[in-house]
Amino acid sequence: MGWGLTNRIARMFPGKSGNSVMVAVDHGYFMGPTRNLESAGATIAPLLPYADAIALTRGILRTSVPPASTVPIVLRVSGGVTILKDDLSEETITTSMEEALRLNVSAVALSVFVGAPHEHQSLTNLAKLVDDGERHGMPVLAITAVGKELEKRDARYLALACRVAAELGAHLVKTYYCEGFSKVVEACPVPIVVAGGPKLATIEDAFALAHSAIAEGARGIDMGRNIWQSEHPVAMLKALRTIVHDAATVREAADAYQEEISVSLRPAATTAPRRRKV
Ligand code: R5P
Repeated sequence: MGWGLTNRIARMFPGKSGNSVMVAVDHGYFMGPTRNLESAGATIAPLLPYADAIALTRGILRTSVPPASTVPIVLRVSGGVTILKDDLSEETITTSMEEALRLNVSAVALSVFVGAPHEHQSLTNLAKLVDDGERHGMPVLAITAVGKELEKRDARYLALACRVAAELGAHLVKTYYCEGFSKVVEACPVPIVVAGGPKLATIEDAFALAHSAIAEGARGIDMGRNIWQSEHPVAMLKALRTIVHDAATVREAADAYQEEISVSLRPAATTAPRRRKV
């Protein structure tokens, strides 16, 4: 890998742990105004200081992230189908490499739909994007999408999908956590980050997902709904950081979450001089 490509990856995996906490806000590209992401800029702003990278489309980047921000950007460059269609796999490349370079992003991301009607198209999209990325020092993150078939998220399927993505040259892979996840990691020669999926019942469930994923070899998370659809998104993100970067347990992360909430709710100390008794 060339210096530029390696440098871009290094910026997304900062610090001693070598892991990454990516915040995904790219859902609108096929789902439209997802709950709590209707006003993307307002959702993104408080999270930016605590994200190692942020995953989004060029439309949301241009309109909803201040250009002075230094947070590495993972730019989604595939799309072309919406949730209104039964088959979500007919994606094409929707944003050029030239545009990705102009936007100064740290990686480009696309979905691959292994086993879906448009498997071939999505995999050749990946192969071409990798060729283009290699030419320009741009890492490619492949997302093993399952469309509406959430039951596909088992180790056998995900190991196959992640391996195929890596064989076609993806530099990073985003997939789902599943039972037997270590087998998915073992069979994938490039770093894996995990998505959160739909919002889980409790914050502890989300912490447990992140904790198990890291313990079984993931190099980070690329999570959306379980952060910004939670009651306290910043507290959630900061608590997840303790798991990904500091090997915190689920209990410790839950304590960090509670502590963050109590600090943010504490009234600011008053600086007004006390009245003297007369
Ligand atoms: C789908 O739109 C994207 O790949 C998401 O970035 C990915 O699913 C992560 O978001 P969430 O944690 O909400 O599943």
